[in-house]
Amino acid sequence: MKAPVLSSFLGAGALIAGLILAGPLVAGPERIAFPENFETEWVLYNQVDRADRKRVRFIYVKPEADAEAKPGQPAPNGTVLVMADRNAKVDADENPVLDADGRMIPEGDFTAIFVMEKQEGWGESVGLEVAPNGDWDYAAFLPDGTLNPETNTAGCFACHTRRTGKDFTFTYFQNVADRAK
Ligand code: HEC
Repeated sequence: MKAPVLSSFLGAGALIAGLILAGPLVAGPERIAFPENFETEWVLYNQVDRADRKRVRFIYVKPEADAEAKPGQPAPNGTVLVMADRNAKVDADENPVLDADGRMIPEGDFTAIFVMEKQEGWGESVGLEVAPNGDWDYAAFLPDGTLNPETNTAGCFACHTRRTGKDFTFTYFQNVADRAK
């Protein structure tokens, strides 16, 4: 009769550990609102062809925050960046087709919408189990505007933390610097 007691004890322990770990990560993406009308009202500042993933990524910034951004400085609080993916047109061999300028050709609607948002004090509340990312937090949405339930945002933190010197962004910090030249 010992085995069932032991396994239920382990089960409760795992459940509690799971709740502790999941808590901050669930709280994170849920405080980020879906960026309504980003494709018509926000600033499209970059377009990245990812041949490896056969995707074209459209990268936007919320205009109010963008107007306050200064070259070489971290983005102001209230900054929201959106990266919206579309599939690339492929040929019969599944290789991306290029246009006259050598760019990939997006097809169909957005397939995924990634958001990073910065608000004062957010960094303190995201939880110790994710890598430091200043006051940025992350969320991934499905095209219908609901949070993607399969996303664990710990992965976002882990990869973007490599960009410490660029305010944890892959493109935005550099874009603000480049356009000031
Ligand atoms: C393996 C590394 C990696 C992971 C994991 C990752 N990103 Fe990124 N992210 C990138 C790269 C690289 C770019 C620049 C675009 C490109 O080259 O694909 C980027 C760009 C972005 C941008 C546009 C602003 C910027 O930094 O240039 C947003 C928004 C974004 N990612 C959100 C997310 C979210 C949300 C998650 C988690 C669901 C996530 N990322 C996970 C590597 C990563």
